Amino acid sequence: MDMIVANDRAELAGARQALGVGGAGGGTLALVPTMGALHEGHRSLIRLAGEHADHVAVSVFVNPLQFGPGEDYARYPRTFEADLEVCAAEGAGVVFAPSAEEMYLPDRQVSVSAGKMGTVAEGAFRPGHFDGMLTVVLKLFNLVRPDAAVFGRKDAQQLALIRRMAADLNLPISIVGAPTVREADGLALSSRNRYLSPEDRTAALALSRALFAGAELAETGRSTPGEIRRAARAVLDAEPGADVDYLILADPATFAEVGDDHGGEAVLAVAARVGTTRLIDNVVLTLG
Ligand code: PAF
Repeated sequence: MDMIVANDRAELAGARQALGVGGAGGGTLALVPTMGALHEGHRSLIRLAGEHADHVAVSVFVNPLQFGPGEDYARYPRTFEADLEVCAAEGAGVVFAPSAEEMYLPDRQVSVSAGKMGTVAEGAFRPGHFDGMLTVVLKLFNLVRPDAAVFGRKDAQQLALIRRMAADLNLPISIVGAPTVREADGLALSSRNRYLSPEDRTAALALSRALFAGAELAETGRSTPGEIRRAARAVLDAEPGADVDYLILADPATFAEVGDDHGGEAVLAVAARVGTTRLIDNVVLTLG
């Protein structure tokens, strides 16, 4: 069966029926929410989604609600035809590509609040971003009605907040985290990497280098969170082309900074501006 492209909720309902999702057929569906500009990382999400359900839906929607004033909403890469080819090649059954008008009522009032956890780390630099992200993810869940949804671990705070939303709002959807895909030299794949000039790209490598330096120290089992932060920070400080917004060692579930007595998993996360591009990356470490 050919991949179905649905642009509105009626076409989406038709696609669910055509695929035999839910109802008497009982087929299951996994959703990969995206903003398009699909790359190898998204391909891996689609493939992982296929391991969690009978059919895979990919949504392609650049969500205006999660971009702040002065951010890159207008210039965010839009490569829809190429995205469709990626989805078809990876075996997606349906692509849901709504317009902003289809997604948001002009007089909309109610939205999701990410709470305190949405105001730390990435949230401190992008006020309202996580509220907008959670609002669209909940709307996509309600429209697509998946059994599972797959998100990349590169957006670690986003994934933690979506898990929190699923728990706090009793969503009957299993949330699956997928490993970050990296270039051979360590750069985490991102739709925004296409903004980088060759010089920016070299400077951008400082992010993964800093995280790997922290991870290496954590592996010794003898380093404190403070020492790990300082080692990662030194790598970033040595790269003048990377302007750091934050570097934190945090609890992966809450994104609160960990103290020196913390044992178990912690996420070392960084955000930096390289040229005109803002990049984020993280690694998960085991402390103590
Ligand atoms: O990670 C993204 O691409 C977006 O934040 C998401 C989850 C598709 C919501 O717009």
